[in-house]
Amino acid sequence: MSTRPVKVLQVGAEIFPLIKTGGLADVLGALPQVLAAQGADVRLLLPGLPAIADAVLHPRQVASLGPAFGAARVTLLRARMPRTQLPVYVIDAPFLYRRGGGPYQDDHGREWPDNLQRFGLLGWAAAQLAQGRLDPDWQPEVLHAHDWHAALACAYLGTHPAAAVASAFTIHNLAYQGLFPHDDCTLLGLSTRWLSPSALEFHGQLSFMKAGLKFADRVTTVSPSYAREIATPEFGVGLEGVIRGRGADVSGILNGIDTEVWDPARDPAIAARYDAVQSAGKAANKAALQQQHGLQPRPDAPLFGVVSRLTSQKGLDLVLAALPELVRQGAQLLVQGSGDAALEGAFMQAAGAHAGQVAVHIGYDEPGAHRLVAGADLILVPSRFEPCGLTQMYGLRYGTVPLVRRVGGLADTVRDLGAPDAPAADANGFVFDEASPQALLGAASRAIQAYRQPALWARLMKRGMAEDLSWRGAARQYLALYADMRRAADPRSAD
Ligand code: ADP
Ligand code: GLC
Repeated sequence: MSTRPVKVLQVGAEIFPLIKTGGLADVLGALPQVLAAQGADVRLLLPGLPAIADAVLHPRQVASLGPAFGAARVTLLRARMPRTQLPVYVIDAPFLYRRGGGPYQDDHGREWPDNLQRFGLLGWAAAQLAQGRLDPDWQPEVLHAHDWHAALACAYLGTHPAAAVASAFTIHNLAYQGLFPHDDCTLLGLSTRWLSPSALEFHGQLSFMKAGLKFADRVTTVSPSYAREIATPEFGVGLEGVIRGRGADVSGILNGIDTEVWDPARDPAIAARYDAVQSAGKAANKAALQQQHGLQPRPDAPLFGVVSRLTSQKGLDLVLAALPELVRQGAQLLVQGSGDAALEGAFMQAAGAHAGQVAVHIGYDEPGAHRLVAGADLILVPSRFEPCGLTQMYGLRYGTVPLVRRVGGLADTVRDLGAPDAPAADANGFVFDEASPQALLGAASRAIQAYRQPALWARLMKRGMAEDLSWRGAARQYLALYADMRRAADPRSAD
């Protein structure tokens, strides 16, 4: 077996700390670095959004891609990532990427009308680079595309099947599929044969997600449970047949977390630093959080925290329904998030109705997320579906006990305590099954009882804090996958 470092190109639309709308950015900000530390030759390819193009170090042009996807001028830059120094390619296409707003939407939450071209270009440039057409000095053996934004790369690679480069596609969330009008296929430079149901067509539309699902050599998702779930109608969002059709090509690799960025012993954002041995600082973080958000300064009140996109995925309507009873049992709740206007409004109303016990911070605030995770006693993640979920792992690392629904990656990372008078020996949190306020309340009541037993609670916190949540294990699994793919691709290159 070859031990030559595998050359892999990671392609995605957002990356921590430069631009982030969710966990995808955290993954792209951490995994490549750990792969490199384990010996892989890793490079990134990112769209030239202002937050990326203006932050990368020492950019220099490596190729001109000419006019493409409606942009008069497209060039490929090679640079270094600011924090990790990893090599990164940036697609410089000001017409498509240089604008305010977010990576997918404008400031008012409307999808960019030219997302087809914006992410078509990302996939096309990735395939061109992977086929050795853009950088004479480097060509990957594996192209690893993340989510629908990069998925088209797997189809474009198939337009030149002779190139011995294999593709992996990772589903971070099957609910966001990149659907566009059917006829727009021509704007992608793909012939109409790509529009069949066995290719990119999905219920009369054009699906970027399907490009990854159908044409990647291997498909992964971000937890073993979600890999099983998406083969069922309940979680497959209409694509369960396609997933099942890929059989053993689909696997789940559980995400890790960046244990340097999320480290209570060194976190510059929090009021007091602490670790599993010297845990007194946790109480100071709680007091600071209560004060900052106008919660009653009660060290003995179990403080539940939520840091989340406010969307139906996250099951926060269950929290709203359970809230009066939670408050009656003496708990406090702090929610930080933004998204759905109705959920934002409902949480603000709840904060008004339960002043001193419920507080809400609407907005996206990275240091605020660290302060919340450090100061809360419990982190609530009651999702209806959850491909992996990172916040419950941030909770574990900070001694902030997770309370989650048994679904996707939440089921793979949190082990239920059971009854507080007969606690499970390896528990690290609380888990409920049914997506109902009653089921959530059942777990929350057990959590509140356990919280009132300091020795039990301390054991629970310490167990979570001692876990290896790093990317090391996942990176080893990705490297094994890449090695497999390289072996499989070699005979093809000899053709
Ligand atoms: P998803 O990607 O579905 O949103 P994850 O749990 O994988 O869920 O990742 C969410 C990431 O976004 C975490 O890093 C979390 O801390 C962060 N996050 C979510 N909402 C906010 C917010 N309002 N402010 C700061 N960070 C947030
Ligand atoms: C998606 C999922 C989330 C996952 C993240 C990173 O945004 O919703 O569960 O943790 O991607 O893989």
